[in-house]
Amino acid sequence: MDSGTAYGRPQGSYRKELTEVGAGTPMGELLRRYWHPVGLTGDACAVPRQVKILGENLILFRDGSGRPGLVHPRCAHRGSTLYYGKVEERGIRCCYHGWLWDVQGHCLEQPCEEGGGKNRERVRQPWFPVEERYGLVFAYLGPPAKKPLLPRYDCLEELAPGEFIEADDSSIGGGGPALIPCNWLQHWENVVDPFHVPVLHGSFSGAQFVAQMGATPRVRFEVTPRGVKVESLRPADGGKVHRRVTEVVMPTLRVVPNPRVAKYGKVESIGWVLPIDDSNFRIYVAGRVTAKGELGRFRSRMAGKAWSALSEEEHREYPGDFEAQTGQGPITLHSEEHLAPSDGGVVRLRRFLESQLQAIAEGRDPACVAFNGQDALIRLDAGQALIDAAQAA
Ligand code: FES
Ligand SMILES: [Fe+2]
Repeated sequence: MDSGTAYGRPQGSYRKELTEVGAGTPMGELLRRYWHPVGLTGDACAVPRQVKILGENLILFRDGSGRPGLVHPRCAHRGSTLYYGKVEERGIRCCYHGWLWDVQGHCLEQPCEEGGGKNRERVRQPWFPVEERYGLVFAYLGPPAKKPLLPRYDCLEELAPGEFIEADDSSIGGGGPALIPCNWLQHWENVVDPFHVPVLHGSFSGAQFVAQMGATPRVRFEVTPRGVKVESLRPADGGKVHRRVTEVVMPTLRVVPNPRVAKYGKVESIGWVLPIDDSNFRIYVAGRVTAKGELGRFRSRMAGKAWSALSEEEHREYPGDFEAQTGQGPITLHSEEHLAPSDGGVVRLRRFLESQLQAIAEGRDPACVAFNGQDALIRLDAGQALIDAAQAA
């Protein structure tokens, strides 16, 4: 009799507490304790822009005095969307009856009411705090009393002569379009999965990275106070060892040294995996560069072509991170997985996230939140180095 057939297999399920990001869900509330990028600095402008983050539809704009604003789209008067609003010096004016809202949702004018609205201070347009850094606009969607400082990162603060910070919102690294139709955690787990590199990127996609990366690494996983760290060791010329450290850092940071150049030193860039909703994410990146547009040039090429230029047959022939991760489905079915020792990074990351959910449930602060200036600088270990074999032993 045949065994192991697909007939009668149980219906798969996924771990909601790790994947779902809506308000009121465990992960949604954990992620709401942090600042997340919602756009490039230039995306906040005089034209209202629809953005979606953690399952919430919002409107991003910049008032005439230069202050960025992020507001709930439904006008608190009678619910028209502020997407059709007009941005003015002091705020955004709803197209329907002209109520004017400032970046903190105060109602400044009700033009159809006597005296411009005598009770206008009684109504508030729901809004979220935003701050700008590294060429990105960050938003805090969590409880006001728990709002941490917007963190700084050593690799984006300590610049060499000639370096400056550039931001990018294309999906660098994975190839693929800017909006990626699967759960954010599928991508985040990929960062602590060093064994896919020689397989997916070394043979399937046709040597996407420097030749060294094609060798199967010796790997050490480590849980850090910030998340999970992966050290990959590969033989290099002259009896040396190439040590590459990548990290995932709360809340969704992807800290990966560029695999396309053999450049040694501290990691060049940070990627933020932004959950748009439960089954879509995008990536914002900020990095040290010496020429404008340098971040975008790091994008993967498959068979010598950009992802968008590939035919369906070429996508099938040369799959990359986009194909592998969206191939797991909109939200991967954890009940159907069979984890092996090489998934040690993924296992540690899930356990780390469980510990953070636990912290929130017990009323503690999660990792990497700081409320005073000195603690808001986060030091990272990620980077690449050539080390002696003795050090690597
Ligand atoms: S619905 Fe916005 S002003 Fe009336
Ligand atoms: Fe990858």
